Amino acid sequence: MGVVSGLVMSYQLGTNWSRFSRILGNIIGPMIGYEVVWAFFLEATFLGIMLFAWNRAPRALHFAATVTVTLGTTISAFWILSATSWMHTPAGFEMRDGVAYPLDWIAIIFNPSFPYRFSHMMVASYLTVAFVVAGVGARYMLEGRHPELARTMLRMGLGLAIVLAPAQALIGDMHGLNTLHHQPAKIAGMEAHWENDGPVPLVMLALPNEKAERNDYEIAIPYLGSLILSHSLTGSIPALKDFPPKDRPPVLPIFLSFRIMVGIGFLFIFMAGVGGILWVFRKLDQVPLYLLALRWCWPLGFIAVVAGWTTTEVGRQPWVAHGVLHTADAASPIPAMSIAVFIALFVLVYGIVFRAGIRYIRRLIKKGPEPNRPTNPRLWQTGRFPRRSKRASQRRTWLSRLSGRSDPMESYLAVVWGVLLGFAIVMYVILDGFDLGIGILFRRHGTRPSAIR
Ligand code: HEM
Repeated sequence: MGVVSGLVMSYQLGTNWSRFSRILGNIIGPMIGYEVVWAFFLEATFLGIMLFAWNRAPRALHFAATVTVTLGTTISAFWILSATSWMHTPAGFEMRDGVAYPLDWIAIIFNPSFPYRFSHMMVASYLTVAFVVAGVGARYMLEGRHPELARTMLRMGLGLAIVLAPAQALIGDMHGLNTLHHQPAKIAGMEAHWENDGPVPLVMLALPNEKAERNDYEIAIPYLGSLILSHSLTGSIPALKDFPPKDRPPVLPIFLSFRIMVGIGFLFIFMAGVGGILWVFRKLDQVPLYLLALRWCWPLGFIAVVAGWTTTEVGRQPWVAHGVLHTADAASPIPAMSIAVFIALFVLVYGIVFRAGIRYIRRLIKKGPEPNRPTNPRLWQTGRFPRRSKRASQRRTWLSRLSGRSDPMESYLAVVWGVLLGFAIVMYVILDGFDLGIGILFRRHGTRPSAIR
């Protein structure tokens, strides 16, 4: 999923954001380049071994491949979060003739918001996985399946969550304070804080009304906002009205998404805390209500991650690189309708990819882990994988014949991948190919720049 979605996404830079690439490419380009190199060479190569060599390769090799994938994804995350953090807190560059040039790569890579964003995102990923593993363990336990594995999953997932859930809130707090320093309008929007008139209340629920510049149906706790954001009961922070309307981010989406993320964060702390107490009293496997609640926590981490990114990226508006380049000036010089159509296509493609991904994950969870078979000695003796059984080869539908796989879900995914890659290649040739040389296939249009365009 990462490879397919990343592949399609990179087209956006050439199609929808060509001015962004021209103006900021000297800085963002190398960082995305490193991300791609690591993602492709480490993750993609070893992912195959990790996914398909279970029970086929020696355990040590499988473990080494899994560790390498983890390392690859972490290094990829490092570069991509460095690039995106730079767009929030640009540093170590100068503008010459409207184009950004690097001056100090260390300052660029370790820009002011990078340490917070990198730690917050890494913890978010591990926390999400912790609740998936614990949730699946709780499910098996409730269903009385795989009792040994279920106990291990429950304890491993919860053990990680007990440490990471409170840590995430602390890192999130520091992240917010750093953002207040560098992007005060974003924090004012996240808190739907309109007037800078003394102690800041913490708005729990409201319907921000951007036209009237106030909150409707507000429920707030006085002084708590000041306490969290300035660590003093009477501290004040910049409010939305301190910024001209054109420099404010859209308030409603970031106000809501921030609350969804933090709400899930505190729910995670609660679930981990209750789980820890039950564990200490050796009752972890014996409270069905808790196991039922934990079982349904599995998708929450994904929702929190999407909500977090919505807060971060919508909150950066109207800038694409804060204080350096407006989003409106970064878009390609093509009609807005073309960009809208292209974005609609992306949404469609991602919809298909993620639907297939979620179906696959649910199927794996439902099926449960395979019993651990010993490493296949034939592979090492003969150097060949064993042939498929006769029964497996007979179970061939049109889909499996097309994809050459016997498992119907694998066939389904293979076709989805094929369609997506085909779509990506066609879009590449049609929309971006001219920039990268495929334009020679279209010689009949002539070579004048206007014709090529
Ligand atoms: C528990 C309390 C939490 C607090 C106080 C908190 C705080 C924050 C803040 C202030 C931001 C925006 C920073 C910016 O845009 O500059 C943010 C972004 C984000 N949060 Fe949280 N967060 C919390 C929980 C979570 C949880 C539980 C997850 C996911 C499991 C999560 C995932 C994210 C992600 C993916 C982003 C966007 C990337 C980034 O800017 O770091 N957060 N969070």
